[in-house]
Amino acid sequence: WQQQDMKGIRILVTAGGTRERIDPVRYLTNDSSGKMGYQLAAEAVRRGAEVTLVSAAVGLTPPPKVRLIRVESAIDMYEAVLAELPGIEVVIKAAAVADYRPVVQADEKIKKTEDKMHIELVRNPDILAEIGRRKTERQVIVGFAAETNHTEANALEKLHKKNADLIVANDVTQEGAGFSVDTNIVSLVRRDRPVRQLPIMSKQSVANAVLDEILSIRRERL
Ligand code: C5P
Repeated sequence: WQQQDMKGIRILVTAGGTRERIDPVRYLTNDSSGKMGYQLAAEAVRRGAEVTLVSAAVGLTPPPKVRLIRVESAIDMYEAVLAELPGIEVVIKAAAVADYRPVVQADEKIKKTEDKMHIELVRNPDILAEIGRRKTERQVIVGFAAETNHTEANALEKLHKKNADLIVANDVTQEGAGFSVDTNIVSLVRRDRPVRQLPIMSKQSVANAVLDEILSIRRERL
């Protein structure tokens, strides 16, 4: 099934939730399990692609034959992805990148006091938007959108704002969709195409549907 139809295509996948350090023993993060990104990497390898997986911390075993780059924070991921980008043909940004990080990362563990505690946050760079700005004619850029409402409208806005070719949108409030579970319910939002709503599927099948869509976008460019 779909044997080796991605042979030699250089794909970069990001996965997991970034960790934004407060001090050496504390951080801010989110509910991303990394499962969707790891399935995408595994299926792309199975179909013959050369896969680089830029992974934030996850409790998963990396698929065989991927080149794994481990990162912690959004800034680390930004640097790793942009360094790899020139040699890459397809970027799939399945990671849940923290939107904010603490202004100060303390070198020592912060001591508690009786006072209130404030952590000031600053915006992280938007990695996908930066990839979109640097995109060449040959590159296909795929983003994910985890939403709790107006899923498709928000996805369409992201597609254009971030100069992406495909947004995989899911409503994370639906049972069987989103974080941690092994299934997902997604819509594939492409430029100048009707939205493709997929039924509930395993993340492995969603991964293959996304890879099929990427091949279709590449074919359209020929
Ligand atoms: O957070 P947002 O909904 O905008 O995320 C949509 C897409 O943008 C996802 O693919 C996510 O990985 C990516 N993103 C990113 N850098 C950020 C925030 C989001 O690459 N700082």
